[in-house]
Amino acid sequence: MKPFWEQEYLNKNRSTFGNPSQEVVDIVPRLPEGARVLDVGCGDGRHALYLAGLGFQVDAFDISENGIRKLNEIRDENQLPIRTAVCDVLDFDYREGYDLIIIHGVLQFIAREKQPEIIRLLKKWTNPGGYHIIALFTDAQPVPEDLREVMVGVFREGEIRDYYQGWETVMFESRQFTDQHENGIRHCHAMNKLVAQKTK
Ligand SMILES: C[S@@+](CC[C@H](N)C(=O)[O-])C[C@H]1O[C@@H](n2cnc3c(N)ncnc32)[C@H](O)[C@@H]1O
Repeated sequence: MKPFWEQEYLNKNRSTFGNPSQEVVDIVPRLPEGARVLDVGCGDGRHALYLAGLGFQVDAFDISENGIRKLNEIRDENQLPIRTAVCDVLDFDYREGYDLIIIHGVLQFIAREKQPEIIRLLKKWTNPGGYHIIALFTDAQPVPEDLREVMVGVFREGEIRDYYQGWETVMFESRQFTDQHENGIRHCHAMNKLVAQKTK
């Protein structure tokens, strides 16, 4: 079963997950000039496009060929500095540290046993003083029926904070909401958002 966004990534006229998330907008004044940004599981690139449009150097990858194809087309039309790849978070060719890593709406789709390794890897490739922005779904709401096959890694409520013990918490949020997708599907979600800074 393919998740609903695969079909929506084929539509070039709208961003599948809407505008950039508020915490991504809010982090901008904290970033150094020319900051290097990594967007993990970028989808069709709402955050990558936004930050590249502001002049940051963005790398973005996703396992979805549809998502990256759409992002590449929009990037090329607008001549934006984004390097893209179709790949899994564990296979990406990490080479240089990042000032900001965004992992938005991705980790709950990855098996529980892989999550500690992924977070360790992303922390390693973060520059001193750099940030992580994480949004993920928690067990405070049941997994929606149509996402059961793909949403295999839901976090425990608040669990993500445990991973960032030695980092400074810039923002933590726990909330529940209903998502009405363009294709008519409605989902109730419980989400944790964490913005954390690696101490220098
Ligand atoms: C709900 S979408 C969010 C897209 C984007 N981060 C955003 O906020 O608009 C989740 C994305 O994670 C990607 N994804 C899931 N598992 C992944 C993995 N192991 N490596 C890279 N991307 C992955 C999916 O293909 C999908 O595009």
